[in-house]
Amino acid sequence: MDDLNLTIETFFRGKSIFITGATGFVGKILIEKLLRSFNEIDTIYILIRKKGADSPSKRLQKMIDCTLFNTLKSQKPQALQKLKVISGDISTTALGISESDLCLLKDKVNIVFHTAATVKFDEDLKVALAINLLGTKEVVDFCKELNNLEVLVHVSTAYSNCNRKDVDEKIYPVSWDVNKIIQATYWMNEELIAEHTSQIIGSWPNTYTFTKALAEHVIADASKDLPVTIVRPSIILSTANDPIPGWIERLNGPTGIVSAASKGVYNSFLLHQWAIVDMIPADIVVNLLICSAWDTANRKAKDVTIYNCCTSAQNPLKWGDFISQCLFHVRRNPSEKVLWYPKAHAYSNRFLYNVGCFFQHIFPAYLLDTLNMFMKRNIKLVPIHKKLSKASKAVEYFTTNEWHFKNDNFIRLHNSLNIEDKKTFCFDVRKINWSSYLENYVLGIRKHIFGESDCTLPKARQMLIWYKWAHRMTRFVLVIFILKIGVGKNAAKFMLDVFNKCLLMREELIY
Ligand SMILES: NC(=O)c1ccc[n+]([C@@H]2O[C@H](COP(=O)([O-])OP(=O)(O)OC[C@H]3O[C@@H](n4cnc5c(N)ncnc54)[C@H](OP(=O)(O)O)[C@@H]3O)[C@@H](O)[C@H]2O)c1
Repeated sequence: MDDLNLTIETFFRGKSIFITGATGFVGKILIEKLLRSFNEIDTIYILIRKKGADSPSKRLQKMIDCTLFNTLKSQKPQALQKLKVISGDISTTALGISESDLCLLKDKVNIVFHTAATVKFDEDLKVALAINLLGTKEVVDFCKELNNLEVLVHVSTAYSNCNRKDVDEKIYPVSWDVNKIIQATYWMNEELIAEHTSQIIGSWPNTYTFTKALAEHVIADASKDLPVTIVRPSIILSTANDPIPGWIERLNGPTGIVSAASKGVYNSFLLHQWAIVDMIPADIVVNLLICSAWDTANRKAKDVTIYNCCTSAQNPLKWGDFISQCLFHVRRNPSEKVLWYPKAHAYSNRFLYNVGCFFQHIFPAYLLDTLNMFMKRNIKLVPIHKKLSKASKAVEYFTTNEWHFKNDNFIRLHNSLNIEDKKTFCFDVRKINWSSYLENYVLGIRKHIFGESDCTLPKARQMLIWYKWAHRMTRFVLVIFILKIGVGKNAAKFMLDVFNKCLLMREELIY
């Protein structure tokens, strides 16, 4: 059969796969999908590092114990036996893989998915370089040792070029010679790198996007010797459908802020509500990863093919709509334990946002902590708020800017799939209904992050009615209090005038 006519299933038949980042959000979904979709896959080798007291094998056990694998366990429990742990760490020489494992992998591995990375935006540059840049170089060197490699799929990010507004599916130059940076990481100590971080990262907003941009150059360079491809997802949120809707496990990015807002502890956001936010369901990313492996291996492309895995060009969503829809679904499906009635105030003006934060977050947090101290209750809101404001600062750059991602390769690849593959590995983002997707996202946060069962929803809804009235009463009492002070007092009248003017100036959503 002509290679080009290979279906995706046929391509994966008998193949052995090596995956980095298997314990991560994307890695787990990828493994589950591979095992569920391909009966005749040979082996999936997963690189796992030791963490704390947990050995790599124990971590594998913990990984498959999570709800994501329930469908697979009920449909094909024996498929899990195809998983083989390889102990290693991408930030060490030769990925920290033992000689005997290396010998085994050399002849066995056909496909490599490199998803491991540190995704912490404000990671120390030395660490981010060690994992995201040197780690990628180690993966490339490892691939060069493989005798039967058909494709290396590298997971980057759409924001690796966020210092430009229009991002095509190509490699953009960086201001540094990547090889010199690699050399420098060997001799520069942590303090020296930390001291010069802002000069080194230049126009990139953080160490994460900068190091991911550098890693793309390592991959592009490797394309001279290896069949490689780069997939660049935008902001990855919960699964849309596969294997279950709404599966999510991490609080990073917007999920941390939405979770805090749903508990009623966070409600002021700095964002441009008309700006387009590019978010992508995790199962769509995984489907593209699988299809891009098949496509690159089949086409035997000489250059690196890049896929911008984004939604904004075909199914745009605005920040304002994201916030209002999440709030709507959070109120319809509230958490069992909320601190206050969930609200959302979106500011595009930094000064007003800071004022909003003071009155909505900082002042109430200090007030409640003082009350808790007198009542001898061990709840501390101030540290929580400090963490949340750090998290929200980290995403500010992305909530107040907009990018145009071109995704011709992404669309071409989808169009080239046959009808069956389009169903099994769908990444047609036009099919996403944002409202129902975001409802599942909110329900997913409730279930998989807060650990709250759906059967507690009716009680939680009842409770939220009480919080709503408590919120209204508090607002009413505050207004009366302000008016009382204001009667006959010029200073108070002046303050009310200022307040009214602020209200007019404020570009915000109040729900
Ligand atoms: N999440 C997003 O919104 C997003 C958006 C665009 C692109 N991406 C890209 O997608 C990929 C996967 O992201 P994710 O969300 O799945 O991240 P994640 O949940 O934080 O997972 C990261 C994975 O990398 C592994 N890892 C990190 N350092 C390692 C090391 N030194 N040695 C071995 N393994 C190491 C982690 O292992 P441990 O469990 O041992 O820490 C974990 O399995 C990354 O390349 C990321 O840049 C993510």
